[in-house]
Amino acid sequence: MQKAKVDQPPEHWDRLFASPGILGIVTTVDREGRINAGSFATVVRVVHDPVQIAFTANSSGRDTYDNIRENGQFVVNLPPFDRAILEKVCIVGLPFAPGVNELEKAGLTALPSRVVKPPRIQECPRHFECEVVWIKEWQDRAMIVGNVVAASTDADCVDADGFVIWDRLHAVTYCGAPYLNKPPYQHTFAAAYQTMTVATPYEGPEVAAFNRVVSELKI
Ligand SMILES: Cc1cc2nc3c(=O)[nH]c(=O)nc-3n(C[C@H](O)[C@H](O)[C@H](O)COP(=O)(O)O)c2cc1C
Repeated sequence: MQKAKVDQPPEHWDRLFASPGILGIVTTVDREGRINAGSFATVVRVVHDPVQIAFTANSSGRDTYDNIRENGQFVVNLPPFDRAILEKVCIVGLPFAPGVNELEKAGLTALPSRVVKPPRIQECPRHFECEVVWIKEWQDRAMIVGNVVAASTDADCVDADGFVIWDRLHAVTYCGAPYLNKPPYQHTFAAAYQTMTVATPYEGPEVAAFNRVVSELKI
């Protein structure tokens, strides 16, 4: 029996698209080298080769945007699905004044990066150091795309080929601002580490074509 479909009104579209991406803490530095961090729900890996990461940020009076405009560097740190760390993610997302180090406010540990000036965050198991490729502003937001110039992980969360060990990594997504809708305004996160490998049960030339494309991928 097929499930009935329900048309959703425009005011539901935002909350329906949950989760909007993977959750990241983006670190940057200002022109004086002061550390800044912001929490971002909208982090997406948008290109395989070279690996490029995008996220969207509010662009009016926000330090992350201003710092990236200034020096073109940022680090995407991916936190785990862990209550104590996610509480720190919520603190990092508070509207601190420019020049305030949100990592110190949240009790997170800055770790020097391998290539770029913004630091990694010790408590996050994955780090992607990025240099800006392009920024597109629209409305009061900006989409920022960066080339990954270095990546590092906790030693025990990937296998020898760099594949994620999901039950150690415990990736997390954020359900989005619409889920903050009533007091006491608590953030909602979704675990994103249950995996399933599935076949493509279809016979036709498209399968061979797909296999050819995959075999040529440089991933
Ligand atoms: C879980 C979480 C997810 C967030 N996601 C986003 C986001 O995707 N885009 C955005 O502009 N702000 C997002 N915010 C809010 C920013 O983290 C917040 O505005 C922060 O102050 C920005 O830091 P900045 O001013 O240092 O750039 C999020 C906050 C939290 C707690």
